[in-house]
Amino acid sequence: MKFSNTLIYWYLQNNRELPWRKSKNPYFIWLSEIMLQQTRVAQGLSYYLKFTTTFPTVFDLAKADESTVLKMWQGLGYYSRARNLHYSAKLIANELNGEFPSTYKDIIKLKGIGDYTASAIASICFNEPTAVVDGNVYRVLSRYFGINTPINSSKGIKEFKTLAQSLIDTLQPGTFNQAIMDFGALHCKPQNPLCETCPFSDSCIALEKKLTKELPVKEKKIKIRKRYFNFIVIKTDNNKTILSERKGKGIWQGLYQFPLIESDKTINKEELISLEDFNNLFKTETTITLFNEKEIVHKLSHQHLYTQFWIIEHKNLAEATINWIEIEKYPVPILIANFLEAYLNKK
Ligand code: ADE
Repeated sequence: MKFSNTLIYWYLQNNRELPWRKSKNPYFIWLSEIMLQQTRVAQGLSYYLKFTTTFPTVFDLAKADESTVLKMWQGLGYYSRARNLHYSAKLIANELNGEFPSTYKDIIKLKGIGDYTASAIASICFNEPTAVVDGNVYRVLSRYFGINTPINSSKGIKEFKTLAQSLIDTLQPGTFNQAIMDFGALHCKPQNPLCETCPFSDSCIALEKKLTKELPVKEKKIKIRKRYFNFIVIKTDNNKTILSERKGKGIWQGLYQFPLIESDKTINKEELISLEDFNNLFKTETTITLFNEKEIVHKLSHQHLYTQFWIIEHKNLAEATINWIEIEKYPVPILIANFLEAYLNKK
């Protein structure tokens, strides 16, 4: 209770005067909340005014054609927001008689509305105690309570939502939600938070432990590299193939593989034939079949291998020294072992 009282007391003295705050009309609140996602208040403001002047009701927005809506959205980015807004406006106007759904459970069913927006609308317009969690809320709560669970992990998302929900002022949930967002935006800022004048300075864990700069914690999401592997599976008239040991460092070091040609995308037979690496392997005619119609995606921690196995039937080839009868003796990556099992059982 203390947290929420202090917060709301701060808000009553410091809140931003914003045009949508004069209203509890869910249509206006919906517009403002969608516009303010990934957009700062200063930037979203003029769009909000333009939109509500041109489309003062949900029926006006529903009647507009999509290109007009998109044109008015121009510059705000993330255009799927505008398309979803228009789609849901048509649904509300035509199927719900213009009545905006009035509970979190029904609001979240609308296209383009997730937990954050449904919580904001339900609390601000309908007094339902559903806590919002946006970037501001993560920052305020992680600092005040000294929580270092990454905010972009599934554990963190659940933990912060539960915490915010436990703190919400059930008598004025809309005010609480807007207060915590404003407090994060104006006072407990990402850089240079105003700790000297903070109403929470006697109980903020981050301030006490000098962790303000370290919180909130965000997990580094590694970028997954996509690679396109073409394994050349040779079968000669005398039942031989090429299998060679992978040299150098890497997870497959010491394992055996078919000749590998890497491409920059998934390729078809014509594209394979046109590759220099492929032509270097074969001087005479071959029969080529793609074993797996759909590429096999082998997922490693940092890369996804989109893999195709090409079966190449060929007259005898000097480089093909491994007998197919003995192939299962060789240690191979699981990707190749799985292929071999499918291929040998199919034959
Ligand atoms: N950011 C997005 N919506 C907001 C709101 N209703 N109050 C404060 N900041 C916000």
